[in-house]
Amino acid sequence: MNCIFVLGQNPKKNELLDSVFKKDFSVSQKSTAAEMLESFADESPVLVIADVSLPDETKTLLAGMKKLNLYPSVPVLLMIPSGAAEASENAEDFLLPGVSDIFEFPFNPAVLRLRAENLISEYYCRKNIEAEALKKSKYDMLLKNEKLAVLETVLDNFVEVAVNSEFLVGTHAARMRKCVRIFLQEYDELFPEAGLTAQKIEDIAYASVFHDIGKLLVPKELLQKDSALTEAETTTARQHTAFGANLLRGVPLVHQKTLYKLCQDICRHHHERFNGDGYPEMLKGGEISVAAQAVGLIEAYIALQEMRPYRKAFSESEAYDAITSGKCGSFSEKMLKAFEKSRSLLEEAFSSF
Ligand SMILES: [Fe+2]
Repeated sequence: MNCIFVLGQNPKKNELLDSVFKKDFSVSQKSTAAEMLESFADESPVLVIADVSLPDETKTLLAGMKKLNLYPSVPVLLMIPSGAAEASENAEDFLLPGVSDIFEFPFNPAVLRLRAENLISEYYCRKNIEAEALKKSKYDMLLKNEKLAVLETVLDNFVEVAVNSEFLVGTHAARMRKCVRIFLQEYDELFPEAGLTAQKIEDIAYASVFHDIGKLLVPKELLQKDSALTEAETTTARQHTAFGANLLRGVPLVHQKTLYKLCQDICRHHHERFNGDGYPEMLKGGEISVAAQAVGLIEAYIALQEMRPYRKAFSESEAYDAITSGKCGSFSEKMLKAFEKSRSLLEEAFSSF
């Protein structure tokens, strides 16, 4: 049975109110606001009736209900003296925030009952709307998380496809991931001030797989040309850096995440060089992230040892010399030191595919 709270200290009034509602409701009478506020959690009333002849208690009750977030969900019906509603000078005594409606004492039981039931119906409507809204927001959150999980799975699979794609030169991507990881572990040992955590190294290694993904948007015949590129063709081919970054930027929901920011940085900047001679932005020195510098160096080391339509594969020592002598553009002293330190491990990793 639904509960109605009555705040009052007049036994006669309390008895009358009880007689109006007791058939269909459990009427719980309280003589103070404090007592009533303590009982809300246990009894969950659907309506509160307060007697304005207890002005301080009524105000304390309304303030307490607001604090407990019960206002405006639980309706409050205020009982005022007969004729008080017509006297405008008394209006501020009962037009209080949190009061849903007023009625005069003495009252007509049928009219009071009707007004109370209307308020209780509104209370249930409001409850249902609130519950529906809560359900919807929980559902939206679930859907968002689900979409995020699906997109991450698609991207993970995409990496695997990229790793095995002939278009991306077979094992090139897999070699990249393994060699970048090894190189950065060695770099971290030499230069711990760079702040490379194990997770960051793993993220960069993962992101390195995407470095040339922009080549998907460069004409195939240009990438597979067996002679030197013209100036115009070189310009087009170099756009793969921006294409790759833009491709990743279009991925909804996940593109703000650290990992995808890394992917974008690597796509866009893996051809930048330490002395500013690289492309597309001709960044210099520390303007190029450690991630992009490392991927640039390892990409050169791996690519040189792989066959291309326009040249044969370099030996490991030829590739090493080309990089350390500056033929692949300039790298920082730190990068070259880490390269020297990791060389044997890189050689072993390259040959393992
Ligand atoms: Fe590239």
